[in-house]
Amino acid sequence: MVGAAAAMTHEDRMRLNLVGNSPAFLAALALIQRVARSDATVLIQGETGTGKELAARAVHYLGARRDQPFIPVNCGALPDQLIENELFGHARGAYTDARDTTAGLIADADGGTLFLDEVEALSMRAQVALLRFLQDGTYRALGGKQERRAQVRIVAASNIDLGELVRRGSFRADFMYRLRLLAVDLPPLREREGDVAQLSHNYLRRLSQQYREVKLLDPQSLIALQMHAWPGNVRELENVLHREFLLTDDATVRVREWSFDPASNRGPRQVAASSGENMLDFHTAKERAIGEFERGYLIRAMQRTGGNVSKAALSCGKERRAFGKLLKKYGIDKDRYRGSDAPAELAR
Ligand SMILES: Nc1ncnc2c1ncn2[C@@H]1O[C@H](COP(=O)(O)OP(=O)(O)OP(=O)(O)O)[C@@H](O)[C@H]1O
Ligand SMILES: [Mg+2]
Repeated sequence: MVGAAAAMTHEDRMRLNLVGNSPAFLAALALIQRVARSDATVLIQGETGTGKELAARAVHYLGARRDQPFIPVNCGALPDQLIENELFGHARGAYTDARDTTAGLIADADGGTLFLDEVEALSMRAQVALLRFLQDGTYRALGGKQERRAQVRIVAASNIDLGELVRRGSFRADFMYRLRLLAVDLPPLREREGDVAQLSHNYLRRLSQQYREVKLLDPQSLIALQMHAWPGNVRELENVLHREFLLTDDATVRVREWSFDPASNRGPRQVAASSGENMLDFHTAKERAIGEFERGYLIRAMQRTGGNVSKAALSCGKERRAFGKLLKKYGIDKDRYRGSDAPAELAR
């Protein structure tokens, strides 16, 4: 899947700020590159902070519509009625305050891309109207009689499994199927082997430029960063580094246990400590080293076997159940490795 023909150029990656070289991330990039070539609707899925908005922009700017508008709209940020008003616009007199006819974001995005962020938050009514728009390219402004047309590519993002919402009855199945004609899954940071280092160095370089003060990462802190599970993914990593960058006067940015929890990072004691002792105690260091080894080992086993848990367990000489428990402990999702490129003979 990550064939040479599909690889994104270095310039594109720099311009779009897509940092990372792990197999999981490269597979996502190759897919982004591929879907950018078409005009079909794309659903980008991934945990919070995995880069869904970056991916949506990449789909737009790598595609034929790159010189046309990219219009983002956060569906979760507006109440039900306002969202329809935003998307479709309104006719004069549609409601008490509607003195003029106003075009909506669909009209603004004509020729380009409309990015529906947090698409799961759309009301049922808005879903119906958008489904119709996806089917035949027509819509009506609120209170308007006239049918309007627009040529818009829809890219949507969600960090919730829409299938689950459909089962619970809060999302329309037909709309979901239409949205995820093409789907891009962004891997969580804990499954992007080696990317924490690259993302950290890259982000510190950006902060150094922004604040005109060069600071580098302390090598031991990198180990702590690599051990962390990153429930908030790349955004959480950026926040931790940004905070520590601002809190130290040294040319070296250090990360400690308390760096991961903003609430415990405020006391003067901790702030003073952050520029002092930098050794982890033996027990913590050992725990982390073991954790790092286990996670890396499991990920490699899953990559070798294309996500086949039984095969992976066998190749590691472990019981399937025990192996499954370890996967769970490290939050490793077997589906992520399904159909990976590893040849079967590597699955020893
Ligand atoms: N691969 C990456 N390389 C560099 N920076 C990244 C990468 N992925 C994410 N980021 C950065 O992480 C932050 C979060 O990314 P983004 O806003 O795209 O995530 P998201 O998935 O939309 O999050 P949320 O679900 O919370 O809206 C941004 O500052 C973004 O620039
Ligand atoms: Mg987002």
